[in-house]
Amino acid sequence: MPKITIDGKTLEVAKGTSVLEAAQLLGVYIPRYCYHPKLSVSGNCRMCLVEVEKAPKLLTACSTEAADGMVVRTDSDKVKTARRDVLEFLLINHPLDCPICDQAGECGLQDYYMDYSRAKSRFAAEDKVRRQKRRVLGPHLVLDNERCILCTRCVRFCSEVTKTSELDVMERADHSYIDLKEGRSLDNNYTLNIADICPVGAWTSRDFRFKSRVWFLKKAPVACLGCATGCLAEAHHNENVIYRLLPRPNAETNTWLCDRGRMTYKAVQAGDRLAKGVIKNGLIDLEPALREAATRIDEAKAAVGVLGSPWLSVEDNAALALLAAGMKTANFCFDFKFETGIADGILVNKDPSPNAAGAARVKAVRGGLELQAFAAKVASGEIKTVLAEARAAGLIKDALKTSGARLITFATNKGDIPAGAYATLPYASYFETAGTFVNYQGFERRLEPVVAAPEGVKPFWAVVNKLGAYSGVLLRLDSADDAMRGLEKK
Ligand code: SF4
Ligand code: SF4
Ligand code: FES
Repeated sequence: MPKITIDGKTLEVAKGTSVLEAAQLLGVYIPRYCYHPKLSVSGNCRMCLVEVEKAPKLLTACSTEAADGMVVRTDSDKVKTARRDVLEFLLINHPLDCPICDQAGECGLQDYYMDYSRAKSRFAAEDKVRRQKRRVLGPHLVLDNERCILCTRCVRFCSEVTKTSELDVMERADHSYIDLKEGRSLDNNYTLNIADICPVGAWTSRDFRFKSRVWFLKKAPVACLGCATGCLAEAHHNENVIYRLLPRPNAETNTWLCDRGRMTYKAVQAGDRLAKGVIKNGLIDLEPALREAATRIDEAKAAVGVLGSPWLSVEDNAALALLAAGMKTANFCFDFKFETGIADGILVNKDPSPNAAGAARVKAVRGGLELQAFAAKVASGEIKTVLAEARAAGLIKDALKTSGARLITFATNKGDIPAGAYATLPYASYFETAGTFVNYQGFERRLEPVVAAPEGVKPFWAVVNKLGAYSGVLLRLDSADDAMRGLEKK
């Protein structure tokens, strides 16, 4: 294994390690624009130039392999001058957009200019090459060609990660610009990652741009609940509003996020967000809605069925299991067997629900019917009133239709309410309340609230607790963890 010395520190590295990666292992940061750990090396920006003993000129650290006995300097005067010159070169044609650029505050040009240059430009603003600005390319992105430094990260992302190859560098020299290939559109399911990896403000997100300056945003660790992959993410929020989801790269599950998953936060602040109960199609306050639902449950007596949900947390499924036990019904189900695995070769899972594995933990302890048997009992009329979270109710929609069973459902958004539901009870989303999810690999995702729920909207377990109280079943739940009585170690 080659031994390399960087700025006086020596390290043995695996064969094939670049000087930039070796420096990183030693805690020495080398600036970079075109290098990205998950993309091929293109070595075009020259920002990573370093001095290598016995080499006649400076070398790019990202594309130079560490060799045995190599001695590297990243902080010599020669390197500092080169960095300043590279920045001057990259900024020659860069527009004076910072005050109106949405990348300000997280821009690689701003940051490196402050860290490695601070030189005055020798080029007149009026001599800059003009390029196309604000081009809407695809459903999620806007491209400003004038701001592009031609690092080709976006081009490589589309050819190497999504393998859709929509982008290319057109023309040559200072006529070069990034564009869509003829007849193509940028509509793969991963396009917002391009805005993340673009080191400047050339690609920006249509959803996020101009909504908030980045320095106002706070970051909270979350997981995407868009499918069973359960990608780790970061919610950027301020004053009780979520502005965007970004990936939280990790070795086990995800470097990127899919576009559909990124947009899941929008349901939290959508216009159809439920803050009240719904009886048939009319909105009513939560308490009368709970009373009405409880009356219908009492009417049905033993013909009540409780369906858990792979869209609910482990704790909220556990609360439903306690309610079923309190009602002394054998008609309950926490059995959701979906085919799992990556469907698109990147991240999106074959299982569209985030917590079938978590519901299985409840089933392992509390038992219950298989989903098919539960649906058969609904279809036959043996179960006359079904209690189910809205999307889980969709799993037995044919049985509900066949028998006309009464559905009492729980939903966060009006758009999720299944057709024909008799009563709907609102609950807080998992950006607003704590809960545990288990992804398809068996990794637990413990979610904590990022923003507050709309006034009067309670966590799911609390709604179940109240519904139980109105039906004469005292669950005595004061927190999500209370619902885990008897399940703690499973
Ligand atoms: S648009 Fe951004 S990511 Fe693409 S080449 Fe230009 S600077 Fe790089
Ligand atoms: S792959 Fe699934 S979990 Fe990951 S971001 Fe997309 S929807 Fe969310
Ligand atoms: S990061 Fe090495 S040349 Fe761009």
